[in-house]
Amino acid sequence: MRIYLDHNATTPVRPEVIDAMGEVLREVHGNPSSGHAEGGLARARVEAARDEVASLLGVAASTIYFTAGASEANNSVLMGLLEERGGSGKLVISSVEHPSVVEPAACLEKSGMVVTRLAVDAEGLLDPSDVFGAVDSDTVLVSLVWANNETGVIQPMEEIARGLKEREIRLHVDATQAVGKWPVDLQRVSADYLSCSAHKFGGPKGTGCLVAREGAPIHPLIRGGPQERRIRGGTENVAGIVGFGHACGLAANELTERMEGYGALRDRLWEGLCDGVEGLVWNGNREHVLPNTLNLQFQEVPGEVLLQALDIEGVAASAGAACHSGSISPSHVLTAMGLSPEEARSTLRLSVGHGVDAEQIDSAVSILTELVDRVRRAGSA
Ligand SMILES: Cc1ncc(COP(=O)(O)O)c(C=O)c1O
Repeated sequence: MRIYLDHNATTPVRPEVIDAMGEVLREVHGNPSSGHAEGGLARARVEAARDEVASLLGVAASTIYFTAGASEANNSVLMGLLEERGGSGKLVISSVEHPSVVEPAACLEKSGMVVTRLAVDAEGLLDPSDVFGAVDSDTVLVSLVWANNETGVIQPMEEIARGLKEREIRLHVDATQAVGKWPVDLQRVSADYLSCSAHKFGGPKGTGCLVAREGAPIHPLIRGGPQERRIRGGTENVAGIVGFGHACGLAANELTERMEGYGALRDRLWEGLCDGVEGLVWNGNREHVLPNTLNLQFQEVPGEVLLQALDIEGVAASAGAACHSGSISPSHVLTAMGLSPEEARSTLRLSVGHGVDAEQIDSAVSILTELVDRVRRAGSA
């Protein structure tokens, strides 16, 4: 049996979600834009899912725009600035953003926008006063990742959002890794925009949403239809949206249990590895971190070598972000935290989730301990 410790890359779809989606694929074939009964049925399912997503995030359903995931939502917000401001104004991001923010930001920079990339400290945390110091009356948007995909480090978003609201500066949060594993409540955090994705917490791949608060400007990335109030053209992925809604409902019911359960497994993994592996370093802040994520530095052991050996032994993990796997460039997130390229290359990300149990963690600990020992002995021979 394989041991899947890569839940930050994606999660297995929960059986309840598969059942809900299967029913839609079998029984609900109408186009939600059609005026007939079949269309009405599909529309009702989409709107019921919108309510479930809105309830999990603490926003009005009218602020949700379904997308094909968080990359699209992030691109919508950032590339929308081009339409709004041409190449003028200032954008503030951090140095530990996901590529779906990094690359649109670089594109905006090319078109003339001034982009500031805020540094994080050695534990991956942003200082809210740096955020406030970076904005002025020309700033059109601050876009920050709430929980980092590689380290799981959670930014002080409540404080950042409060300070930006006082300064009347718009904030976009990429909450893709936080939703479903951490309390993401926009009643508490006054962000103007939020991106998230169903597949990171038991929903299907290729479905997510952008939240845009009332009054926050929003422009279509995909044009050509009246769907999603003309903000996202294209016939809705009805089954995907229903699956997303269902995953949000499960998350709302299980959040406390998940945080405790994932946290216990993650701590068991850390403690087990500490017992057997010398010189292990936890990358990132250990208090402000997602309960399921462990980013570890195995000094002088190349992460890619470990990753391949683990895969052969039946354990799935990740070196840096999944989208970087296969590339040998060190993670920009870890180097932003001050790790040398060599240190960054000797890291693994282990992320637990639904379906992982203590027995699997114990097996992963012994497999990994043995592999590190073997690689280190081979290296010193
Ligand atoms: C922080 C973060 N933002 C955005 C994305 C992109 O999400 P999606 O796969 O839905 O496009 C990811 C996925 O890895 C992520 O971790």
